[in-house]
Amino acid sequence: MKLTQNEIHKLEELTLHERLKYMTELFPEGVVFSTSLGQEDQVITDAIFRQQLPIKVFTLDTGRLFYEHYELLAKNKAKYRMNTEVYFPDASDIEKYVNEKGINAFYYSVENRKECCFLRKVKPLNRALEGAKVWITGLRSEQSENRENMPMIEWEEDRQLYKFNPLIHWSYQDVLDYIEKEKVQDLPLHKKGYISVGCAPCTRAIEPGEDPRAGRWWWEESKKECGLHTHNS
Ligand code: ADX
Ligand code: SF4
Repeated sequence: MKLTQNEIHKLEELTLHERLKYMTELFPEGVVFSTSLGQEDQVITDAIFRQQLPIKVFTLDTGRLFYEHYELLAKNKAKYRMNTEVYFPDASDIEKYVNEKGINAFYYSVENRKECCFLRKVKPLNRALEGAKVWITGLRSEQSENRENMPMIEWEEDRQLYKFNPLIHWSYQDVLDYIEKEKVQDLPLHKKGYISVGCAPCTRAIEPGEDPRAGRWWWEESKKECGLHTHNS
């Protein structure tokens, strides 16, 4: 089903909670949400789980996450009594990569890094999105140049689904305000200078004034995307 301009306009006008609920009315099946367990995603998770919306919530466990990610996953389950599905990479892909290239081969070249992200994130993502009609993300336009002009909702021809970014126009302060007001649990790492958090070996804390994504793949000059969101760019 394709959305009309009126439906898209209405989605943009609603509050976050209403927006997510309305999407499940438009698509009673096939709405999925990918969470990295970062602050934006914890806000969306809160809005989905508290309203008990029929949305599959899933995370990609790359095998290289922080210990804190696993703790938060367990805390979410305890708080909301709702499940977050976990998708893992193909074990044989990772065995081959690690045994041929090295356990931390992503530091050696951009090519190795991209391959690692592809095997540990993009391939499992493609599996998680099979059959989905709407893919919800926590992307915000402020986060990077690549995300600056992303619309709230866009049709992805390759995947044959809508990508829905309900926080696209939110500022980081809006995210923090929601977290405080609604008492949303988040990764303790954020208070230690980790703003954008990915895999442990590929994320460092940032200094005051640094770009919020400067801590991601910090040893690379400019590549600050892992391939999950470069689809239409
Ligand atoms: S990334 O492309 O640089 O890794 P980022 O960390 O900014 O992405 O997160 C942007 C969005 O990508 C998140 O809101 C989430 O929807 C999705 N995402 C990123 N990492 C994961 C993950 N490990 N599992 C599920 N979704 C993820
Ligand atoms: Fe591999 Fe690092 Fe990408 Fe994680 S962020 S998948 S460890 S290269």
